[in-house]
Amino acid sequence: MTLYSRILGTGGHLPRNVLTNQELERMVDTSDAWIRERTGIRQRHIAEDGETCVDLAEVASRRAIEAAGIAPHDIDLIVMATTTPDQTFPSSACLLQNRLDIHGCAAFDVQAVCTGFIYALGIADKFIRTGAATKALVIGAETISRIIDWTDRGTCVLFGDGAGAVVIGAADEPGIIDSHLHADGAYRELLQVPAGIGNGGNGSPFMEMKGNEVFRVAVTTLGRIVDEVLEANAMTRADIDWLVPHQANMRIIQATARKLDLPMEQVVVTVEEHGNTSAASVPLAFDAAVRDGRIERGQTVLMEAFGGGFTWGSVLLRY
Ligand code: UT7
Repeated sequence: MTLYSRILGTGGHLPRNVLTNQELERMVDTSDAWIRERTGIRQRHIAEDGETCVDLAEVASRRAIEAAGIAPHDIDLIVMATTTPDQTFPSSACLLQNRLDIHGCAAFDVQAVCTGFIYALGIADKFIRTGAATKALVIGAETISRIIDWTDRGTCVLFGDGAGAVVIGAADEPGIIDSHLHADGAYRELLQVPAGIGNGGNGSPFMEMKGNEVFRVAVTTLGRIVDEVLEANAMTRADIDWLVPHQANMRIIQATARKLDLPMEQVVVTVEEHGNTSAASVPLAFDAAVRDGRIERGQTVLMEAFGGGFTWGSVLLRY
């Protein structure tokens, strides 16, 4: 019998602290009108001092576990996507595992920046399909505000913090239909945090982005992803009920929706309220649309993301 994985439950969590465009106007040379017109963003949530990535991930995970109707100890795999781990090690997945009082199962982090959750879900799906795990907790969580230069108007207006999670479990039929993961390190300098532990802290510890060039590659690449996943599964654009895109910029989201011939009513958009939460953006958007009843059981959902690396990928699933 072929094994598949399906989504059992979802959860999300945002820090309480909200930063509006009007507040940003007082911090850098920008305007609410510019930010809304170029990105669609109105506000973003920012972690308070001492509020960490694992703190956010724990709340989102508990909600996903509760929605799945299982106990934490039923989970036998934890995959956590983050660019902003609490510590160099142990991994955030291990720290989260301990918070949830789960012991012994494999737990590891995935670093693919904004595509992190797509990578994590693709990996967890493969563990379940091979029988190596039966119930996996998959998280995308970020305190991306900690790697933002708050004097750089080119990046500081775009990002926010948050966490989203899903629990997936083994099933006889999909569930997750397909996933495609890609990367090309040749683009490393267009979007990066130069400093790292391994290079002795050399260079800036904050995000540097050539926004315009990233924008162009993102739009073309996400268009290609849509063709790739539909062709691989002998599906057409009409088979997609919902697009759950990475929430980087409203204009990039609209371009991908046009490629799919999808009206914006079938696209889950959270970028206005969340900004770009990197690895948390897709699971946060998915959780929002599941909880408010837009995405229903049996519907077909396409998730996609694009981010630093560059990395990009998609997950096609029946909810
Ligand atoms: O999550 C993964 C990857 N990240 C992305 O996908 C982000 C991709 N890039 C973008 O979303 C867009 O490129 C941005 C929103 C970052 C920028 O929008 P844009 O339409 O590409 O603007 P631009 O970079 O071409 O800049 C246009 C002008 C420039 O001024 P000049 O040179 O024309 O005088 C910028 O200096 O807008 C200026 N500008 C700003 N003005 C007000 C840049 N940032 C700001 C700002 N407020 N915050």
